[in-house]
Amino acid sequence: MSKVLVVYSSLTDNTKKVAEAISAAIPGSELASVDKTELDELKDLSGYEAIIVGFWVDKGRADPKTLKFFEKLKNQTTAFFFTLGAYPDTKHADDVASSTEKLLTEGGNKVLGHFRCQGKVDPNLLEKMKKMLPPDHPHSQMTPERQARLDEAAKHPNEEDFQKAAAFARDTLSKIASK
Ligand SMILES: Cc1cc2nc3c(=O)[nH]c(=O)nc-3n(C[C@H](O)[C@H](O)[C@H](O)COP(=O)(O)O)c2cc1C
Repeated sequence: MSKVLVVYSSLTDNTKKVAEAISAAIPGSELASVDKTELDELKDLSGYEAIIVGFWVDKGRADPKTLKFFEKLKNQTTAFFFTLGAYPDTKHADDVASSTEKLLTEGGNKVLGHFRCQGKVDPNLLEKMKKMLPPDHPHSQMTPERQARLDEAAKHPNEEDFQKAAAFARDTLSKIASK
């Protein structure tokens, strides 16, 4: 059986829930938050057959804790997943995926694939943004399009996302087995 580590970073639990769905679909996998992994001084990562990293999108990239983790992740077999406020079928989400893949590949890692889904945006953050940003900034105003996107994000991750995440996990597992 493959020994797989699912490591995630999550502020408001969206990514954590997806990580749990992924880990549950991989028998014997280990699930850890990136903080815990840091705490353990990145216990020997070479003991895993694959490392699946999950993060939340922060200003168009992986969140800072994950970026720090990526600096230490070298020459491993990997896959990744992320949650974001934007729709998953946008250029914004494509850019996150391709820059992450590039970063991992540059670290000598093999990337087996990725999964993405929307995740509700913390209402406190929206309130803060409104106060801090200049009035002409796109994120300080509420347009019908933006409201629709936030309303949709508020429904995620949902049961369908968890099922898709589990399918991604099984697909990754079969890729590990055939590598
Ligand atoms: C500070 C901050 C910056 C964010 N930046 C982006 C962004 O650039 N693009 C995006 O689509 N979503 C962005 N989001 C939304 C989060 O990525 C999204 O809500 C995510 O599901 C949060 O995951 P978590 O619950 O695991 O923390 C941002 C959220 C926060 C708090």
